[in-house]
Amino acid sequence: MRVCVIGTGYVGLVTGVCLAHIGHHVICVDNNEEKVKLMKSGQTPIFEPGLSELMQASSQDGRLEFTTDLAAGVAHGEILFIAVGTPPLPTGESDTRYVEAVARGIGSHLDGGYKVIVNKSTVPIGSGDWVKVIVMDGAAGGAPEDNKSLEEISASFDVVSNPEFLREGSAVYDTFNPDRIVLGGNSPQAIEMMQELYTPLIERKYAEEQSLPPVPVLVTDLSSAEMIKYAANAFLATKISFINEVANICDRVGADVTEVAKGIGLDSRISNKFLQAGIGWGGSCFPKDVLALTHIANDYGYETQLLQATVSVNQRQRLLAVEKLKQELKMLKAKTVGLLGLTFKPDTDDLRDAPALILIEELNRLGAKVKAYDPIISSTGMRHGLTGVIVETDPERLADGCDALVLVTDWQQFAKLDYERMAKLMNNPLLIDGRNFLDPETIKSAGFHYEGIGR
Ligand code: NAD
Ligand code: UGA
Repeated sequence: MRVCVIGTGYVGLVTGVCLAHIGHHVICVDNNEEKVKLMKSGQTPIFEPGLSELMQASSQDGRLEFTTDLAAGVAHGEILFIAVGTPPLPTGESDTRYVEAVARGIGSHLDGGYKVIVNKSTVPIGSGDWVKVIVMDGAAGGAPEDNKSLEEISASFDVVSNPEFLREGSAVYDTFNPDRIVLGGNSPQAIEMMQELYTPLIERKYAEEQSLPPVPVLVTDLSSAEMIKYAANAFLATKISFINEVANICDRVGADVTEVAKGIGLDSRISNKFLQAGIGWGGSCFPKDVLALTHIANDYGYETQLLQATVSVNQRQRLLAVEKLKQELKMLKAKTVGLLGLTFKPDTDDLRDAPALILIEELNRLGAKVKAYDPIISSTGMRHGLTGVIVETDPERLADGCDALVLVTDWQQFAKLDYERMAKLMNNPLLIDGRNFLDPETIKSAGFHYEGIGR
């Protein structure tokens, strides 16, 4: 099918590349000229495992193109994905201005041929109907060349909500191995086209486990699809805050939260996923989506007590490593703290709302010197949003002269560092494992004083 994806960030680019890989002809549109230039030259502007290889292969096969020209993208696509960012406003509300600009732009380029406009961005409940109105506004202002009436334009497209559930760091894998596909809308024609688009994924043709039954497709109304996205993220964030609260109790009563998580996770009603205690959740979505849902609820007169607790447990958790450092080192002024990891999770270059940023700010405030090593950030020279931290080029340079190390991100590489040598290079061999990622006995036998979270 002919597809246009507008916005080539973590979601849009992965979606465009994967749809091209399964055989569709995709044009990706972005208004960032630098990004488009980079992608045209075969390079990915983001780090996501497996993405670069697929992108280059589909580009060479002619099924994947990049442009800044929205008109060309709209003319090409029978299915148009809106995949631009919806960052939080200072109030916590979702900033939908980029979605609005794209919807208006699409409207101004509609030519009367039937199209499905897909909200892939995470958008407030009610946005499906709102996008329809904005597209019509755009059409009214755009004076279509072939003089189609607004009634004809209105009949020529439908809006579908198709929320995205991929995780950064495993986005390509998640796209080919989805747990479910959610389609919200009231047009049978649009839903049928979306099902046709996703047929190879529904039939698991590109999945790791191809013998499993087809991927469940939930067809529902627009508002429910939009709500499913927020509810899923809010639930996952709450699950992590729950296990973090349990970890804090474990710390006080002498239990081990990793054992407790195993024990409760064996109950199939609970499941063992997303029960890894640590120094809190971050990233570009959980924080903003939980806030946005709270905001939406408040707008409709409902106070979200559970979600507020989810957020406040997380805020406290993100400073837990500093509390542990205070306990062990007493004064932090003039001490040197080394952070292992900066990104909000492994296998990504994304620093948006990363727990490391809060730690750096608080440690700086207390007068500590902060150094960091991150497998991606250290090697790419990407420093966006990073102040008050010296980025080292390898783990041993990081350890050199430190009074403590804090493992912030559970990068696989950190399992195999030469901890014995690192301990010897430090002023004081203290390691706070903020992700309960390392084996405490191995680290202790390397010469460290080890502290986990709730263990
Ligand atoms: P992003 O910030 O990485 O990318 C957004 C892209 O849109 C950028 O490349 C930007 O240049 C482009 N853009 C902005 N305005 C544009 C315009 N008018 N025309 C063309 N391009 C434009 O965002 P993201 O992380 O990919 O998230 C996109 C949406 O998907 C958000 O609503 C987010 O909540 C949702 N989501 C994200 C993830 C994730 O893992 N990042 C997962 C699920 C859902
Ligand atoms: C999350 C969801 O998992 C995706 O389904 C969703 O599509 C996406 O948000 C989104 O809407 O953007 P992502 O933020 O990429 O994906 O990464 P996660 O693996 O969910 O991790 C989020 C944060 O939670 C990270 O900081 C991670 O370290 C933390 N986490 C995760 C824990 O502290 N414990 C866990 O058990 C799992």
